[in-house]
Amino acid sequence: MAERNSKPSDCSPLTELSKLPQVRLEDPRQVVIMWQTARSWPLGGIRLVRKGAPDDDVREIWMEHDDELHYYRGYDHWVTLTGLADGASYEYLLLARDADGQVRQLVETPFAFDYPDYHVKVEITGGPFVTNPGTACMSVVWRTSLPSGAAVDVRKTGTDEVRRVLRGDTGILSVHDLHHVVHLTRLEEGTSYDYRPVIFDSRTGAFLPAGEWRTFTTLSKAKKRFRALYMADLHGDRLKLAQMLERFDAASCDFVLYGGDMVWSAMHAPEAENLWDEFIHTSVEHFATTVPMVMVRGNHEGGGLYADSYAKVFHSPEGNTYHAFRCGDFLFVCLDSGDICPAERDCFPEFFARQREWLKRVLDSEEARTARFRIAVVHAPTHGMPDGEINERMRRYFLDLLNDPSPERRFQLCLGGHDHRCFRCNAGEGFSRLAQPLPGEVMKFGDVFLYTVMLNGGPLPLDGKWEYTVTEIIGAEDKVQVTMLDGVTGEQIDAIAIDAAGKVTELAT
Ligand SMILES: [Fe+2]
Repeated sequence: MAERNSKPSDCSPLTELSKLPQVRLEDPRQVVIMWQTARSWPLGGIRLVRKGAPDDDVREIWMEHDDELHYYRGYDHWVTLTGLADGASYEYLLLARDADGQVRQLVETPFAFDYPDYHVKVEITGGPFVTNPGTACMSVVWRTSLPSGAAVDVRKTGTDEVRRVLRGDTGILSVHDLHHVVHLTRLEEGTSYDYRPVIFDSRTGAFLPAGEWRTFTTLSKAKKRFRALYMADLHGDRLKLAQMLERFDAASCDFVLYGGDMVWSAMHAPEAENLWDEFIHTSVEHFATTVPMVMVRGNHEGGGLYADSYAKVFHSPEGNTYHAFRCGDFLFVCLDSGDICPAERDCFPEFFARQREWLKRVLDSEEARTARFRIAVVHAPTHGMPDGEINERMRRYFLDLLNDPSPERRFQLCLGGHDHRCFRCNAGEGFSRLAQPLPGEVMKFGDVFLYTVMLNGGPLPLDGKWEYTVTEIIGAEDKVQVTMLDGVTGEQIDAIAIDAAGKVTELAT
């Protein structure tokens, strides 16, 4: 319920009021208005006008008391309103009676509030989808037509025991949001769960399950083989995205990685409207209700008015835009390479220093050290073509950590995008075996790196070739097979296998 004009501007009410009125919605369907006067008055009252209604819709409501009307004198006053019209706007004046029973008006300018429309149902307008996969966790995300609270019902597939998990870690249910991210934890490894969103409608005080049960499966360290897709730089081309998700059977993957720049530009809309329109709805239709959608932020998700709404949709249980997870013998590290706009650049030293500290903690963890393979997933990689400020920053903060040659810390692969051209540089080689330079463009690398960098294509005025590409990642016990495919024709562009020591075997035919 929106409350307006809480403080009149041209007539200070503070000479008569020591506390401005508060409007509280109570169940079932009544409103309590409370205020405090600066001096003692008999019972207070209000004159209530429904805006836009005929002149006779004016009511005086007085405070009720167990004793007689004039017995009470005090500073605190409250009235209870019932029978209000759904969706109507109201204005009210505060009243008091003086010693001889005359009604006095305490303020000149009315206060106002909007009464909710109980006939408008809260509905899911996006999702649900699953993200932040892990061996013991998963997050469920959706969006509603009206602000509401959120929970998720979850049960192990094939069982009846339902656990209801509320949104938020504070134990306080927030009811003011359109976006809902519920982090499920304490799940069992490699196990299928059914889930359904639950909407908490603060107008009725009721939890209502919304939609059918869906199923996801947690990741497992024991998994011997998995399949994932990586895509980046679709730039809002929903048609191409749908074709690629269909062609490469995203629904049968263990997870799908989006490498950022999934939106057309940095012209962000409030409440992440453009993220939903440009790739999330399409992803939900094709796979993301059951297969985790793993997102890393691109520079186009990172800049522009309302860009902060990105984190309303995509954030880890720790509240970060970077995260890591284990699948089989592989550790996936999803990094946030930030933006290239000056306004955001000023925020970066602190942001990247924190992210670096987080990565160090991740790499020190048991889950990371016991993995045989480590894959970095990022929008702008440490090395690319052309080599810009964003790449240089990635090297500055992460290169030493990604370049560790010890078996328990070695990265074998970095998947990226950003440059909009297909690129593959094997570990230690210093040149790309697969590149689409622009005329006159010189490839340059700042440092030696011990992991293979593979970058997807993107829209670019070259020859229209390889503008939409998909990288398929098949993890096995002793190697990872990485195949880059043309998203439009299905043609194989590149194929390699990498072993745990980082050695690359060419598979291209
Ligand atoms: Fe891009």
